[in-house]
Parts: sequence; C-alpha cells; structure tokens
Amino acid sequence: MPKSILRRGLEGFHPYVPGEQPPDGAGWVKLNTNESPLPPSPRVIEAIKHAADDSLRLYPSPTAQPAREAVARRFGLEPSRVTVGNGGDELIELCFRAFAGAGDTVAFPTPTYPLFEPLCRIHEAEPSRHPTEDFAELPPSLGPDPSPLKFIVNPNSPTGALFDAHHVRAAVAASSGVVAIDEAYVDFAPRSALDLLETHGNVVLLRTFSKSYGLAGMRIGFALGSPDLIEALDAVKDSYNVDRLAIAAAVAAIEDEAHHRRLVEEVVRNRGELARALEELGFEVVDSATNFVFARPPRPAAEVVTALRERKILVRHYDREPIVGWIRVTVGTREQHAALLDALKEVLA
Ligand SMILES: Cc1ncc(COP(=O)(O)O)c(C=O)c1O
Repeated sequence: MPKSILRRGLEGFHPYVPGEQPPDGAGWVKLNTNESPLPPSPRVIEAIKHAADDSLRLYPSPTAQPAREAVARRFGLEPSRVTVGNGGDELIELCFRAFAGAGDTVAFPTPTYPLFEPLCRIHEAEPSRHPTEDFAELPPSLGPDPSPLKFIVNPNSPTGALFDAHHVRAAVAASSGVVAIDEAYVDFAPRSALDLLETHGNVVLLRTFSKSYGLAGMRIGFALGSPDLIEALDAVKDSYNVDRLAIAAAVAAIEDEAHHRRLVEEVVRNRGELARALEELGFEVVDSATNFVFARPPRPAAEVVTALRERKILVRHYDREPIVGWIRVTVGTREQHAALLDALKEVLA
C-alpha cells in the first residue's frame, strides 16, 4: 500500500517490525522472538481439539468468561478484576484506546518495548521518553511525569533487567494517571508487582500466555487491575476479541500449574547456562529476569547476527541508540544453545 494512502497524521510512520518468522519446519534455530523452547501443556492441546467442534459457528463469549474466571481463580481475585485479550499486545493497545488519545503524552523508560512508539503515532499521542542511566534503574523522572498513561515493562525488554520494586512503587504512587506494568516476562523473575494491585487503584498489570505458557501462537493475554480500570479496558475492546479456541486454551493452560512451573524452571536453568557460556566467549551480559539474554558481543553485533543467520540461527539485534552493538538471544533448549555456541565460536574466531 503506497504510504500516501495513510491518513495525514501518519506521514512518515514507522510500523512495529516483528522478529522474523521463517516457515515452520525449515530448520532454523529460532532465538529471536522470545517464544517458549518447550511446548504448551498437553492438556491445552486436548482442550483446543475438544473446542474445535460445531460450536465454532457461534460467537465466543464476548467477555471470554471461562478464561476470565480461570485467571481470577488462579490469582485469588474477583473476575471483575480480570480481562482477557488477543495477546498482551492487544491489552497495550486497549490502554491507549482507554487512557491516552490525541494530544496526550504517554510515558515510558527507554530503551523498552518498541511497540509503544508506533502506538503513540497511531493514537496521535506524544511519547514522553525517560532514558535509563543504567538498564536496571527506573528513571526517577518517570514518577513526576504528568502523563495520563505510563508503561513500565518489568522485567524490561530488550534488556532483561528487573527494576527495583521500591522504585516501581514510588513511580506508581507519584502518578495521577494509569500505570500499566507490562509483566510479559514476570514468571521468569523473582518477583512481580501483584501486591501493588491491593494498594494502588491506578495500576494495571499486563500478562501473556505467549512466553511462560508456550502459547505465542494462540494469542492470549490478560490484564489485572481495579474493577474500574478493567471496566474501562472492556469498554473499548472489540466485541469478540478472544476466540473460542483461545478461551479453551487459556483455561487449560492456567489450570495446569505443574506444567507451567516445569517450563519456567527449565528456562531459568537454561538461561543461567546460556549467560555463562556467552560470558566465556567475551560477551558483556546483562543480568536477566526473563526468558532471554541481552548481551554485547566482542565484535560488531550486525556482523555477528548476519553470520549467525547464514548458519540458520536467528537472534534479535537493534540499530538504535543506546543499544546498538547489543543482541537479544531467546533462551532455547540445550540443543539450540549448543548450535548457537558452536556457531559463535566459529564466527568470533
Ligand atoms: C514487553 C512485551 N510486552 C508484551 C508482549 C506481548 O506479547 P503477546 O502479544 O504475544 O502476548 C511482548 C512480546 O514479545 C513483549 O516483549
């Protein structure tokens, strides 16, 4: 589509560019989009098969009620404090629709999830960026920022760093607007901001089934917040934003806690091994609280990434400051790590 067809407000628009998704089964070692290296619970596959029946002619529950209730049970919350979306990304978009529009500012630390920038353009809001001095330090300027909507990705992407809980609490307490804490990776971290839900009505936590439940392909996320915030998100969502198969998958996934725990434990163990191996190869490695490792190779990152790609290994890298020179590697299986490390030894030799 020629750019000129876009509305005037989107002149020069740079869309969000997702990580490369090569065709399934083409032999790639795919460590570029933070998917789970392990499959979802077998109970999820069963539930999806069971849901794939004649009832697909009917619309799903507009509130994704079974999923909402299952998530609420899991967190010991009333269902009125939960909404479900088509991935965490949809919930981010709903925050814009509900809380920040044309002429508003939307605040977030940088570097962070690059989706916020194009969403600001689409909603004609102004980004209010707060650069981090140190990847693990929440900028003190974020709290006093008067924006009606703030995002804190914690643990952050692409750095993998976890911001200090007291600093997050202070930023929330200083904010008059809504603070969306994007906890897409929190299951791999030592702590979450769940306790803030009890003390601060302006907090919404965004979660996803894409990472620690191994369900990136299903597109399910959920938000936890005060009934008022949840009602606001529900008010602006599309009518049937979560399909029948996704609702069934979400219920089965959240109810199979043992599988979830095993998946998280294996990723955390593999993460430690990967970080140590990269350090031994001369990478500078950021302490990760996620399912990926952010690291600076001892050679120009662009060269390393290209050489890996030639060997059918995909990792993510960035062409913008202050993270030029860094790569983000999703934690994989031990076999995937072996392939990556062998290739890196060749590339760095
Ligand atoms: C920081 C962050 N937030 C949210 C998401 C959304 O994930 P999904 O839309 O798959 O739930 C991602 C995905 O990579 C992410 O990195």
